[in-house]
Amino acid sequence: MKHFLSVNDVTHPDELINRALAFKQQPVPPHHPGKGRRLGLLFFNPSLRTRLSTQLAAQNLGMEVIVLNAGRENWTLEFTDGAVMDGETVEHVKDAARVLGRYFDVLGIRTFPKLQSRDEDYAEHVLNQFVRHAGVPVISLESATLHPLQSLADLITITEHRPHSRKPKVVLTWAPHIKPLPQCVANSFAQWMLAWNKAHLVVAHPPGYELDEQFTRGADILTSQMEALQDADFVYVKNWSSLNPYGTTPAVGENWMLTSAKLQVTRNARVMHCLPVRRNVELSDEVLDSPASLVTEQAANRIWAAQAALASLIESI
Ligand code: CP
Repeated sequence: MKHFLSVNDVTHPDELINRALAFKQQPVPPHHPGKGRRLGLLFFNPSLRTRLSTQLAAQNLGMEVIVLNAGRENWTLEFTDGAVMDGETVEHVKDAARVLGRYFDVLGIRTFPKLQSRDEDYAEHVLNQFVRHAGVPVISLESATLHPLQSLADLITITEHRPHSRKPKVVLTWAPHIKPLPQCVANSFAQWMLAWNKAHLVVAHPPGYELDEQFTRGADILTSQMEALQDADFVYVKNWSSLNPYGTTPAVGENWMLTSAKLQVTRNARVMHCLPVRRNVELSDEVLDSPASLVTEQAANRIWAAQAALASLIESI
């Protein structure tokens, strides 16, 4: 694997899932595959799970890890090609990425969308500049449109808890939030689920919150949450903002917060969320604190997802 930016970089999702599950059984491989390798993690945005799980994963492999809070601790970067840099930006990403490629064997980047221009965000301008100029494998720690490490952890979690007698029904349902959020977790989850093809994926959202078809083509898409929840085995709860008008939050008539009462129509569904979660806005306390909740399992599986992805990247160096 050359880079880890989306499921399109993965030949067989199941191989990566099995590799992650093997690391879960034996976190520290005896041959230390990352020994002598350095991982640089650049966070342009905050993180709890991605930052710590990726560090733990790299340490399990024997890698050295350095984290830079890139939004605050480095020079302000310019991302526009050909820019006359007579303003606030101090260093062009071309120069910074080339230097980082000399310091590190693998580079991790977290960057969020600005939610101002769909074209700009969906071009993955920031992440792609690092890929273009660093000259080393890049692992996405969440980008403007995708969150592949989260999705891999989600598939690991579903694999562990799925019924074995039938193809599970997995519902990705929109949930309310107090501010506009990116579409990346939802895009990425749909993309991985459809590539994996081991479950029936249903996406449920209010009118006006359609996701980009490039990620959801092949899923059933419903605008009734209760219809979607019928007989579900897994319910993945996530807010996202509208694509059109981009980055907005059109009014929603009903309350889409997931509650225990709504789960009555499912097949004792297990409930997922990538965290952080706004309790009693997206999901009720009673669901999050019930045995149905898998949210802590998902977050724990982030270590094994990152370890499987990093091990595969190291092999390609
Ligand atoms: N789910 C997730 O990516 O969490 P963090 O933002 O805390 O890394």
